[in-house]
Amino acid sequence: MRVDVVSIFPDYLAALDLSLVGKARRTGLLDLRVHDLRGWATDRHRTVDDTPFGGGAGMVMRPDVWGRALDDVLPAGGAGHLVVPTPSGEVFTQRHAERLALEAHVVIACGRYEGIDARVAERARAAGHRVSELSIGDYVLNGGEVAALVMIEAFGRLLPGVVGNPHSLVEESHGAAGLLEYPVYTKPPAWEGLEVPEVLLSGHHARIERWRRDRALERTAARRPDMVAALDVAALDKADLAV
Ligand code: ADE
Repeated sequence: MRVDVVSIFPDYLAALDLSLVGKARRTGLLDLRVHDLRGWATDRHRTVDDTPFGGGAGMVMRPDVWGRALDDVLPAGGAGHLVVPTPSGEVFTQRHAERLALEAHVVIACGRYEGIDARVAERARAAGHRVSELSIGDYVLNGGEVAALVMIEAFGRLLPGVVGNPHSLVEESHGAAGLLEYPVYTKPPAWEGLEVPEVLLSGHHARIERWRRDRALERTAARRPDMVAALDVAALDKADLAV
């Protein structure tokens, strides 16, 4: 998979050399390139922004600079998926991560200030590219770079071969079950007077599975009533309804 990130702070993306995403880059599973938007500015000061039409506070990123950048990094023929991180986007979820992981080429345009001139996304759509304006949550960051890191980590770990044990991807929070993940424990079995739940040491797989599902249901009900409301009641078993 090819990913291009365009930003006025390319150094923000240095963390992508680390951990599993860094390894995916080194092994060639992920061809990830970071670009400095100012490379497409044309004036002596390498200006990328200007004042908003209609007035108001702050600065808006210029469409001409972004247009040149995207002409260079988006693939020809409308074959790319342009992601624009923005607090005014759709909320990014595991479903978006799953879809992006299937793309051949994703370009992430990191805005700063009050955002990017709206014609940039409009022009990319008109050229046939998929365009997703995505927010990582209901809060405002100073720019799209941290959101880009979040999204790349979320879809990057879904690429075949990136996570060593693919079973790790099956039971996790926000997976197919629609539940948060159950609590997990490791050695030692007793620590500072706190014991690992007995059932997990029992070796009884059916009981362990039931216990985990009950804890997942409880946790989801307490923390994410919105996820409980979205559960398919027909897919729940009798024991689920007793929790
Ligand atoms: N840029 C600024 N705030 C953001 C957010 N919450 N999500 C994505 N991009 C952003």
